[in-house]
Amino acid sequence: MQSKALKKFSHIVLLLSKGIANRKLYYSDHPRVNSYALDVVNLVNDYCALTSAEELFIGIYEGNFIFDGKRVFGPSVTGKPLIQLADKFHCGGFSLQQGITISELRNFFDITALRNIPARKLSDARALLLKYGISKIGLGDLFKGGFDQRPSGVHSPWEGQTISESLGSPTVLFQELYDVVSISYGDAAFDRALDLDRTQSVSEFMLKYVQSNFADVMQYVHYPDYDSYTVGHSVRVASLAVWVGSKMGWQDRDLLTIGTAALLHDIGKCKTPDEILMKKGKLTEEEYAVVKEHPNDGTEILLGQKNISPIALAACWGHHLRFDRGGYPNQPAWAIRHPVTALLQICDVFEALTAVRPYKSAMEPREAYSIMLQDKGGFHPALLATFIQIVGLYPPGTFVQLADGRIGMVLEETLNIDRPKLIVTTTQRGQPLFDQDHYVLNLSDEQHKDEVVESLLLNYLDV
Ligand SMILES: [Fe+2]
Ligand SMILES: [Fe+2]
Repeated sequence: MQSKALKKFSHIVLLLSKGIANRKLYYSDHPRVNSYALDVVNLVNDYCALTSAEELFIGIYEGNFIFDGKRVFGPSVTGKPLIQLADKFHCGGFSLQQGITISELRNFFDITALRNIPARKLSDARALLLKYGISKIGLGDLFKGGFDQRPSGVHSPWEGQTISESLGSPTVLFQELYDVVSISYGDAAFDRALDLDRTQSVSEFMLKYVQSNFADVMQYVHYPDYDSYTVGHSVRVASLAVWVGSKMGWQDRDLLTIGTAALLHDIGKCKTPDEILMKKGKLTEEEYAVVKEHPNDGTEILLGQKNISPIALAACWGHHLRFDRGGYPNQPAWAIRHPVTALLQICDVFEALTAVRPYKSAMEPREAYSIMLQDKGGFHPALLATFIQIVGLYPPGTFVQLADGRIGMVLEETLNIDRPKLIVTTTQRGQPLFDQDHYVLNLSDEQHKDEVVESLLLNYLDV
């Protein structure tokens, strides 16, 4: 039940963030803004029914969302608009109460779109909400790291919660990545200039992080991200491409270009209608023809920017071209593929197969490889083989369960494809160990030859 409640929590955070972002683009009564308001109302009621609680408290601490004393990574990444709003309100979170109405949420979104929010302290923000007729959204006080500092008699939604992990981390990186990609999509959709300098500097940040701390990055790359999956997809493809490229010994300068190119490769999808992008069933022929326009649309968008690199253009235009010259768009006979485009095409398909989507659950890398290898002529054969060797059956950052029940996170591949190096994080009965008791286990060491990986735990983080 905890896991179901957490899923609802995450989804509500995302919808609120989307509502805030969309209210900035559209007017108050716009169907998009309304539909986010309606979905939040329904989900809050579902959450209360599920947990028998009267309210859902969305805690925010140090730029992360906290649910039941634990950081929730996915929403922390995609929910930046709500985190920024909490800052403006000087609050430590939002309580959404049972019976909240659509008009209250719409008014709440209206406040978020004000150029200046007139609140110098938390009490001003609370008064502002009341002035807008919002009584079922409460603003929580700031988490002080201990409840004894709180004046007695003051109710705090943080009551009973302690925060159980340190919050440093790749969150900031992912927040930056998500932000820059979603803002680029918004800008492109409204024919505004893209902030390529920022995309480039986030790509630099990503490169540093990926090179020093790849397992940490990838640990978070696989969480399901519900309706922002085009953005999530671009971020994941970029992390993967930069990492694989750096393992292949490509130069930093080229890796930066790959990062930027990968972050923007699907930018043309901002022109694809949501009904098609989010469709759960199979696409009709006409719908598929619309999807196939996105490399052309994307290239056109990028061509309109100053200082766009030719590699980013090539990757955007050619990432659906196959090794055997099939795929789309139609290419002239003289065209040759840049290696970056070929790598992005592999990362793109691998990500699409292994990620969670509204219409499918995640697939193990093993299965994804088998599909890709069977697709003769689909991919550059040597590049695909190298990709498989680098990413392995158990990519860094994924969790595996050993035959004796212990769970660990893969740190890196070894020469034996099925015997990675892990950091063990639980006992044999699955009890989590304290951080300081985690230990490294290299399954390819002779002394551990009897210990084997039993299964890959997809979405382990989400449990
Ligand atoms: Fe694409
Ligand atoms: Fe893509």
